[in-house]
Amino acid sequence: MEKIIIDTGDSLSGIVVGGRWQAVVKMLPESGVVIITDDNVYDKYGIDFPAFPVIKIRPGEGSKTLSTVGRIIDELLKIGADRSCFILGIGGGVVCDLAGFVASIYLRGVRFGFVSTSLLSQVDASVGGKNGVDAGLYKNVIGTFRQPEFVICDTTMLSTLPANEYLSGLAEMLKIALIGDAALVEIAEKNYGAIMERDRHLMMDTVARTIKYKASVVAEDERESGARRVLNFGHTYGHPIEMVNQFQHGFAVAAGMELAIHLSFEKGLLDNNNKRRALKLLDQYGVVPDYEISGKKMEELISRDKKRSGNSVHFVLIRDIGEPIIEKISIDELVGFYSTFQKNRKT
Ligand code: GLY
Repeated sequence: MEKIIIDTGDSLSGIVVGGRWQAVVKMLPESGVVIITDDNVYDKYGIDFPAFPVIKIRPGEGSKTLSTVGRIIDELLKIGADRSCFILGIGGGVVCDLAGFVASIYLRGVRFGFVSTSLLSQVDASVGGKNGVDAGLYKNVIGTFRQPEFVICDTTMLSTLPANEYLSGLAEMLKIALIGDAALVEIAEKNYGAIMERDRHLMMDTVARTIKYKASVVAEDERESGARRVLNFGHTYGHPIEMVNQFQHGFAVAAGMELAIHLSFEKGLLDNNNKRRALKLLDQYGVVPDYEISGKKMEELISRDKKRSGNSVHFVLIRDIGEPIIEKISIDELVGFYSTFQKNRKT
C-alpha cells in the first residue's frame, strides 16, 4: 500500500493506493456521513457500504448536470445534513466530480473524500481537486477547485470493470506516461499481457506512479495557471472528438494524443523514432478509436474550449518521451493541421 500526499499549500489530500476500500470507515467521522454513488456501483458494492444514508445517481456522463446537483442537494436537506457532515463519493469519475462539486457548494462547503472505483477515476478524475459538471455539450464548464481529504484507490476493484471502461482508464495512464514518466512507458511496453489481465500488483505500481506524477503537477499549480496545463495533453482535440462521437473520455483523449504526437513531429520537436514509439504504444493498447468530426465542427468546438485564450490555445506537445512542452498555437493552425491530417489519412 502506498500513500501519496498532495500538498497545495492550502490543503492536504491523501491518496491511498493498494489498500482495501472497506478500510474507508477508519477515515470517516462516526456520524454525519452521506454517501453518493451510482446504481451500478451500489449493486456491486452497496452491501459492504458503511451504514450511512446513500444518495444514488444514474450511471454515466449524462448525470453530470446541474439538475443532478439540485436533486442531490434536495436529498441532503431532507436527510438533515448540516455543516459538520462528510460527503463520501464511492464511484468513478462522474460520481467523484459530482460529489466533490456538491461538497464544495453545499452550505458553502463541507468535508469530502472518495473511494475511487474505476481506473479512469483512480488515475485522473478523483485526483487533483477539480470538481464540476457539464452544461449541454460543454464538459466541466461549471466547477470548483477543492481537494478531497482522501482518495482510496483499491486496485482489486478494477477486476470488475467492463473492458471498455478499463481501457479508457489505461489511455489516461498512457497520457501521464508520455508526458511525464518515460519509465512508465517502458513498463507499459513490456507488460502488455499483465496490464490487460489487470494484475493487481502491477496495477498498484502503475496507478501509484501515475498519481505521483499528477500529484506533483497539481501541488505546483493547483489552479492551472501554468505547469498543470501539461495534463491537458490530448484534450484540445480530444474533447471535441468526445463530444461529437460520445466516446468514453480516455478513448477521445487517445485520439487527441495521436494528433498531438503527429503535430509535435511536424513542428520539429519530436524525432521520428520517438514519434513512432509513442504512436506504437497507443496502437499496442488499441485505445485510438475510429472517429468522425469535420474540420468545421472541430473549429467550432475548439473555439469554445474553456482553456482557449483569445484565438489561441495553450497546446501540449511532447519533445521526447516523458517531456511535454506547452505552446500557444492559433486555432486556425490547429484546425488546418487537423484537416490536412484527416485528408492524408483517407488517401
Ligand atoms: N478531479 C480531476 C482533476 O482535478 O484533474
